[in-house]
Amino acid sequence: MNVLAKPADLEDAAPAGAFVQEVTAVQHYTDHLFKFRMTRPASFRFRSGEFVMIGLMIDGKPLYRAYSIASPSWDEELEFFSIKVADGPLTQHLQKIQPGDAVLMKKKPTGTLVNDALVPGKRVYMFSTGTGLAPFASLIRDPDTYEKFDQVIVTHTCREVAELKYGLDLVEATKNDPLIGEMAQEKLIHYTSVTREDYPFKGRITDLIESGKLFTDLGVPPLDPAIDRGMICGSMDMLKDTKALLEKAGLNEGANNKPAEFVVERAFVG
Ligand code: A2P
Repeated sequence: MNVLAKPADLEDAAPAGAFVQEVTAVQHYTDHLFKFRMTRPASFRFRSGEFVMIGLMIDGKPLYRAYSIASPSWDEELEFFSIKVADGPLTQHLQKIQPGDAVLMKKKPTGTLVNDALVPGKRVYMFSTGTGLAPFASLIRDPDTYEKFDQVIVTHTCREVAELKYGLDLVEATKNDPLIGEMAQEKLIHYTSVTREDYPFKGRITDLIESGKLFTDLGVPPLDPAIDRGMICGSMDMLKDTKALLEKAGLNEGANNKPAEFVVERAFVG
């Protein structure tokens, strides 16, 4: 089944409420992970950390999945970090996209992993596993994040070392970025750990929090609700377990209409 099309092919067939955009770049990291960039509609506004529905026309019908936008709100293109699943209804096709191909995007972004959903603090932790890094890829490239916090700690845990590559490249590029590089060099800390291969930092983030090793490794005091803030993005189980640890440390869950000390968003899979 050939579901990939060019934007011009979809001009007349575009579903209502969706933009038809053009892929500009694709990079594959492992058998299970890739990133793509695409054009951004001039009228499309979002807050760094939000997600949007991304899709393809399959059998004449649009099929969408939620994707966190990995690029910051000021970027003129949009970036996404995706898993690849051999029999995934969307990603079995999406993983084959190439520059020039068309991708559908619904018009309304949403989400809770935004700076406005956190009360002011000194240090923000962004806890991620797998493609859960995506919303933080957006937030660590947004100057607002550095204006709000003195220290921005992004943790990324994956099963295998190769899965860390997107994040490692991203942080290096961010620190060399003409707009935010200086702020990132001063405030951004990237903490990576791996669970199923040898690596200097081993283990689930939940175990590293619980044992205190995370804080020792970082050289910071344990979680303190007076100054520490959290954002969590990963699998359902990871969210549940990490949230429980933040609550145990005295942090409360917030939302857009009720900012508090931490916020949660599930990493979407397709
Ligand atoms: P592990 O290898 O011990 O399962 P997944 O691909 O399953 O979403 O996993 C991505 C990463 O998240 C893996 O390193 C995995 O560790 C870790 N992980 C899975 N479940 C949890 C959980 N409940 N709490 C914290 N980390 C988790």
